[in-house]
Amino acid sequence: METGDRYRTPIQDFYADTTIFITGGTGFLGKMLIEKLLRSCPDISMIYVMIRSQKDKSPENRLDEMLESPLYDRIKKEVPNFRKKIVPITGDSNIKGLGLSKTDRNMLIRNVSIIFHMAANMQFYGKIKISTIVNIDATATILKLAKRMPNLKSFIHVSTIYSNCHVKHIEECIYSYPINHKHLITFARNLPENIFEEKISNYTDNVLVYNFVPPVDGPTWNE
Ligand SMILES: NC(=O)c1ccc[n+]([C@@H]2O[C@H](COP(=O)([O-])OP(=O)(O)OC[C@H]3O[C@@H](n4cnc5c(N)ncnc54)[C@H](OP(=O)(O)O)[C@@H]3O)[C@@H](O)[C@H]2O)c1
Repeated sequence: METGDRYRTPIQDFYADTTIFITGGTGFLGKMLIEKLLRSCPDISMIYVMIRSQKDKSPENRLDEMLESPLYDRIKKEVPNFRKKIVPITGDSNIKGLGLSKTDRNMLIRNVSIIFHMAANMQFYGKIKISTIVNIDATATILKLAKRMPNLKSFIHVSTIYSNCHVKHIEECIYSYPINHKHLITFARNLPENIFEEKISNYTDNVLVYNFVPPVDGPTWNE
């Protein structure tokens, strides 16, 4: 470290000058992630957040509204210029190709070095067809996008991968699945909801699922 340089932790070093792409940035975990990254790693170059439009609200309006939350009170004091580093990108995991414009897609491919993919359909009693498209197909699309990024250092997919509803006792390991994911996506995209549900119920055998969620939010609350 040269005289006059301020000390940086290894994590701050890792994030310095990086361009980050976040999906699910408006969600419970995503909001906290954006705040923590920009407050603790102020040398991040830019964060692009994929946000879908909602009724009469554009992604830009939604981002501005989110930043009004008291969660961002501290960063507003400590890193006043943080807002300039968050750029909303219009996208929707429910749309093929995420609904990204060609310009945005190419810009992301050129610039992004870190991806946090956190967008997910968390309606556990919602339509399984939408969950399949948003949670599986969109993830496959983002992985394909990531493979085209020449500067990519890290891809982080935040999910509940450990919910394996086709087995009765869940171990901490990666399972193979009774249905190939490409077939699953094709069915989800092409079959009506009721026929899709009927088809996949043959694979799940009505197993009850218990899901243990680790206390990921405690440290943020303590801060
Ligand atoms: N919360 C936890 O304690 C916890 C623990 C372990 C793992 N996880 C996993 O972490 C991930 C995020 O969880 P969370 O609690 O932050 O969920 P959440 O609060 O429900 O947030 C979900 C995010 O996904 C976005 N999203 C949903 N559908 C979308 C679509 N069609 N297109 C674009 N964005 C879409 C939502 O955007 P909108 O604002 O537009 O709806 C929101 O930003 C999930 O995979 C979850 O299983 C969470």
